[in-house]
Amino acid sequence: MKIFIDTADIDEVKEGMTWGVADGITTNPSLIKKAQEKHKVKDMNSYIKNLCKTVGKGKDVSLEVIGTDAKTMISQGLTLYKKFNKVANNVVIKIPVNPATNDDPNFDGIKAIKALASKGIGINTTLIFTPEQAWLAAKAGAKYVSPFAGRIDDDLRKKANITFEKPDYYPATGKEYKEKPLEDNGIISGIHLCKQIRLLLDNFNYKTQIIAASLRNARQIREAALVGAHVATIPFSALTTTLTHYKTAEGMNAFLADTVKEYEAVFK
Ligand code: G3P
Repeated sequence: MKIFIDTADIDEVKEGMTWGVADGITTNPSLIKKAQEKHKVKDMNSYIKNLCKTVGKGKDVSLEVIGTDAKTMISQGLTLYKKFNKVANNVVIKIPVNPATNDDPNFDGIKAIKALASKGIGINTTLIFTPEQAWLAAKAGAKYVSPFAGRIDDDLRKKANITFEKPDYYPATGKEYKEKPLEDNGIISGIHLCKQIRLLLDNFNYKTQIIAASLRNARQIREAALVGAHVATIPFSALTTTLTHYKTAEGMNAFLADTVKEYEAVFK
């Protein structure tokens, strides 16, 4: 499974890329807002160019459109691609699967995916909450579909009035509420959503890859890999938890305490 870092924060991108295990980054307007506020970015063009350069060739940088109709999304997708792909040839355009809002009903996401994908531009379809949405995006030619695993779990917990903190684990096998499985139209967890998408796409040999997104903790990341997500996009804070275990820290303390000076001399 590939690893993308779910961030637009240049500090996290720089640090994450030095680990040598990241295959790209994913951004969205909320992550750009956070980065803008933290770094007080005035010139967003230069900032994004720096993100693309830092991530580098052969890795992906997903940049999202902000329009909600096909014409605008296509034009914004082309703008993002023309401006930033020349930096390191690594730009993927993020399109919401269904950009309709309550004020503006439409189904233009799929049209925009089709139009941009047919120009050879890699598309990451975002805000996926059902296998059907993923299937239509794949059919329209998307390179990636991004199911928001964590937000499904949040929603299921909210419906059952379960209090939780964002990083808390939610079982891939679901939970019961009032003696019935908690579910959203047959989906019992975010990981279950990833698994269903994988089965559906594999049934018809789609090449579209699944990016398990909105991940919250190490166990959920592991489960995304086990159900066959091609990529996990991971917030930097969750990425650090994948390397953390109290027994590792305990073992380290013991090794350091046991280091004799004769062994230290070996390193001089
Ligand atoms: O990649 C999607 C992600 O940024 C959404 O994460 O934590 O807001 O659900 P979150």
